[in-house]
Order: sequence, then C-alpha cells, then structure tokens
Amino acid sequence: MSVPPRPGFFLTFEGGEGAGKSTQIRYLAAQLEASGEKVVLTREPGGAPGAEAIRALLTTGASDRWDPAAEVLLFYAARAEHLARTIRPALARGAIVLCDRFSDSTRAYQGAAQGVDPGFIEFLDQAIVADTQPDLTILLDIAPEAGLARATARGALERFEQAGLAFHQRLRAAYLALAAANPERIAVIDAAGAEGAIAGAISQIVAKRLAARTP
Ligand code: TMP
Repeated sequence: MSVPPRPGFFLTFEGGEGAGKSTQIRYLAAQLEASGEKVVLTREPGGAPGAEAIRALLTTGASDRWDPAAEVLLFYAARAEHLARTIRPALARGAIVLCDRFSDSTRAYQGAAQGVDPGFIEFLDQAIVADTQPDLTILLDIAPEAGLARATARGALERFEQAGLAFHQRLRAAYLALAAANPERIAVIDAAGAEGAIAGAISQIVAKRLAARTP
C-alpha cells in the first residue's frame, strides 16, 4: 500500500556564512504569500522556544566551546523541539515551511568540516527527523572568501564565522558533495551574483516543484 503524500511542502535553505540565505528566504516568503500560499518562515538552530534557548548555547562563545559529539546532540535536541512544535504542525495544516538551515548543516558543519562520524549523524537523523525530510533544499553556493567578507561586513562574527578559511573551504566542499549525492532534493544556486537574479533562479525552481505537488 502506498503512503499518502503529506500535505504542505518542506523547503530548506543551506549554505556557508554570508551566502545570503536570510535575504533570499524573505524574498521567497513574500512572493509565495502574495500568491496565496500559507507560509511559515523558520530557522535552525531555533524555531521553537526551547530550540531558541539551545541556539544561544550553540552560536555564541569560543569556536571550540563544545565537544563535536555534544554539539551534534544539541543541534538534534533543538531540531526535535522544532519539528514537534513548529514544522510538523505547519505541514499538517498544509503550509509551505521555509527553513533557514536544517540537517544538511549538521552534515556539513559537524560531519564533514569537524569530523563527526557521518553514521552517528544519520542514526540521529533517522530517529529525530524520520520521514519529515525536506521536499526541496536550495543550496546557495559561494566562495568562502566572498561569503566571509559579507558576514564580516554585517557585524560581529558569530561562533562558526570565527573558524578559519580552511574550515569554510571544507564546508563548501561538503555541501557540494551532498548536492552531488542528492541531485533530486538539493538544487545548487550560484550565490555570487546579483540578489534579484538569484531570487529569480530560486523562484523558478520552487514554482516547478510546487506545480508537481500531488493535489
Ligand atoms: P545562521 O548563522 O545561518 O543563523 O546559523 C547559525 C550557525 O549555526 C551557523 O554558523 C551554522 C551553524 N549550524 C551548525 O553548525 N550545524 C547545524 O546543524 C545548524 C542548523 C547550524
């Protein structure tokens, strides 16, 4: 027996620091709302009260503040709260959930860039995210030099932004490898160009996927 499709649509945005995710996600949310869709805009770590409290532990302080395995557990603790209180209820109402970062961030930042066993991350992902996997992921790809320059220009550097250039190069390679391994789910967008052109490219991909949804 086939599983009925779930209502709603789960779209995640990924990328390194300064790739322009927040700007692009806001553009897309406004556009989808204008076309009459129910939209829930959220972010990780965070998106629910307990998860926002965990965010403060994860994004501030020294870059070696946490043991990498402890850090992964904190990200998945926040994700469990976020899924239970925000994402799953919104999908059940038929909303389009736009989420700034999700499990691919853990795979790239903690897995590939910090050396946490990918098997450990996938074990947690199966237990916590289970079948609430993203329908589509937009990966905003930018050279780390350009992304870090943008992140620096917007203000004080947060915890992961302080890590060196080599870390951010590993991160970019990890994201591109994830996209190559999941071509159906992850769309790579060149984030070096003009904001309007990037927004146009994202909107085209999203429109195509939404049109293909089972009614
Ligand atoms: P933001 O700067 O995009 O708001 O994300 C917060 C930071 O948390 C960013 O530096 C990336 C990092 N992060 C991880 O390392 N692993 C994760 O699973 C998530 C969701 C974020």
